[in-house]
Amino acid sequence: MIAAKGLEDVIAGTSSICDVNGQTGQLIYRGYDIDDLARYATFEEVAYLLWYGKLPNKAEYDQLREQLVANRELPVQVMKLLFDLPPRANPMHLLRTVVSALAVYDPDAGDNSPDANLRKAIRLTARIPTIITSIERIRSGELPLKNNPELSHAANYLYTLKGTIPDELSVRAMDVALILQADHEFNASTFTARVITSTLSDMYSAVVGAIGALAGPLHGGANERVMRMLIDIGDASRAEDYVKGLLMQKQRVMGFGHRVYKTEDPRAKHLKRLSRELGERQGNLKWYLISEKVEEVMLREKGLYCNVDFYSASVQYMLGIPIDMFTPLFASSRIVGWTAHVMEQMADNRLIRPRAEYVGARDLPWVPMEERE
Ligand code: COA
Repeated sequence: MIAAKGLEDVIAGTSSICDVNGQTGQLIYRGYDIDDLARYATFEEVAYLLWYGKLPNKAEYDQLREQLVANRELPVQVMKLLFDLPPRANPMHLLRTVVSALAVYDPDAGDNSPDANLRKAIRLTARIPTIITSIERIRSGELPLKNNPELSHAANYLYTLKGTIPDELSVRAMDVALILQADHEFNASTFTARVITSTLSDMYSAVVGAIGALAGPLHGGANERVMRMLIDIGDASRAEDYVKGLLMQKQRVMGFGHRVYKTEDPRAKHLKRLSRELGERQGNLKWYLISEKVEEVMLREKGLYCNVDFYSASVQYMLGIPIDMFTPLFASSRIVGWTAHVMEQMADNRLIRPRAEYVGARDLPWVPMEERE
């Protein structure tokens, strides 16, 4: 048997949560096209859809919104821990540590029943934004803000980050960014979560592992590097030479290419539109225009399309989100997908334990230590 490097094209299990068609560039959550969800849904609706497998009616939607609102605050001990940790540490390290700490204050932590897992999924989804915005405020020398129960998930997120009630376009942009990143089939972090779950470990352990997997630059860490690149380019007129320079040095241009999509990433166009709209509203199209030029050069020179991370960088930047908070924000969206996959794996579990194609030595004679070189 020959191993597929990076498990490329390997079907590693069944799922009814999300499907990615890399040839046609189509993405569906539970049967619904991502274009419709990006146009019409809210993040809370998408969370319901991914967890329960159907769109909520009004009563179900209201109930989930209430549950999310009720679970936003962190246990006092966890908030204290946030103050005790070094404020300038890598935010993904802080997020991973604090999510792990949440487990020891959660009475459901060791309960793998479907009801307990759903309660934990709601708590994690409600609390991760509180962790992220508290990290940002503490390191800026300010006190974390109390969550505002009147605001939606996306609006409260921006409010607790910046301290002002956000406008409609910003809330919509935030909602769409959260919706688009909520799930993506067996991506590296979700697969990590499923592997951990398959040992009958618990949801917190699975999510902590998934956060670690997401942090890498080949996965969720790409969006931060995209923004640093756009800042480095500085002006659309410099974009072509800059990108060609990277390609000549055989470097990867962050935010391009995808393991599954061989055509346009269906999420990118929504973020591209929002990047332009936010730029127009702020009277500054600079980030949009640089991005557009980089996109054009990459397609022409390498035949590579941009992925979800590319335009999400300028969108988040224009929403006032600090660059090193882009990947934590990705986690605050993907938490819904991770927890949906944990529940799906638990419901029909078998230990995930693949084989390796052994390429090492065999039949070596034993050499006593004193005779070894
Ligand atoms: N910039 C330049 N070249 C790229 C590239 C990029 N972003 N992504 C892929 N390529 C090139 C590779 O150099 C390789 O070319 P070669 O065959 O001439 O060596 C070819 O495309 C295939 O790349 P490979 O690394 O085998 O693809 P993969 O499926 O293993 O990797 C990614 C997929 C996403 C990891 C990869 O495209 C990448 O590193 N992208 C940048 C990081 C990123 O945006 N990650 C977020 C993903 S949503």
